Amino acid sequence: MNGGNPLNRKGIILAGGTGSRLWPMTAVVSKQLLPVWDKPMIFYPLATLLEAGLTEILIISTPADISRFQDLLGDGSYLGVSLSFAIQPEPNGLAEALIIGEEFLNGSPAALILGDNLFYGGGITGLLKSANKDPVSTIFACHVSDPKRYGVVNFNKDGKAISLIEKPKVITSNFAVTGLYFYEANVSQLAKTLQPSDRKELEITDLNLLYLQNEMLNVKILSRETAWLDTGTSSSLLQASQFVEAMQSRQGTVVACLEEIAINLGLISPSSLKSRFFLDGKSGYSQYVKQLLDRLHSPEFKE
Ligand code: TTP
Repeated sequence: MNGGNPLNRKGIILAGGTGSRLWPMTAVVSKQLLPVWDKPMIFYPLATLLEAGLTEILIISTPADISRFQDLLGDGSYLGVSLSFAIQPEPNGLAEALIIGEEFLNGSPAALILGDNLFYGGGITGLLKSANKDPVSTIFACHVSDPKRYGVVNFNKDGKAISLIEKPKVITSNFAVTGLYFYEANVSQLAKTLQPSDRKELEITDLNLLYLQNEMLNVKILSRETAWLDTGTSSSLLQASQFVEAMQSRQGTVVACLEEIAINLGLISPSSLKSRFFLDGKSGYSQYVKQLLDRLHSPEFKE
């Protein structure tokens, strides 16, 4: 039993897909390895899962890309977590992640995050920690200006979620469903009952609808202080980089610094942090981790 993760929830990062909106950038490189400012995109969803209290995480990607993620992140032990890897042979839809992950989940509840989603700021950690303790399923909605690009959720006048619509043609709600989903322990079985949609994908909206129809779905709204960015197009990728650069240069801190998060959460002690090869670099990220360790190893600091 883990105090920060009482239900032993396990995390899944879905980092495959086609990335065709970013071709030719993603013609031979996985989208989730592209930089968002100063680090690979996958650092951000991984940071979000760590901050939610999860320590067992499966990364799913394409047959061509999976070894790149393994090379980058290793088995996670240097962060005090366990990372495993699995392949999605074809981009058959987001809900397939829960089927591919069935053995990994082994009856635990799941948190699925899309590898190109970035969450930042006010209250998100508290929201995730509370969803993590809840045995039923929870999805997160965010107010957006362009809901037609997303799955949206409609609420009744009492604030209860009443319907989910994938890429609505007529705007009935500005609340988009974000790429982070907390599911109860039976989710793999439920995902197996889904039929492919017209675009031949197992749709996450169909899975969420099953929970909604059975009154087993919490829909939490992200506060206005929380930023949710996805990075699927050239403009949104640039905006995400600009956002992270602005935060970091103003605050003098690094967003989604995995080593710092692991130390702050007590997953590893500063003295047991084993260096990944990229920490020897001359980049701002490497220097930041080095300075952090120097500070924590200074005589004034007590572990
Ligand atoms: P999308 O943005 O819907 O799809 P995509 O990344 O393939 O991009 P494009 O539309 O430009 O071709 O996917 C959202 C996230 O889910 C993204 O991180 C990729 C991932 N994904 C998979 O890993 N497997 C899949 O079958 C699908 C559909 C998406």
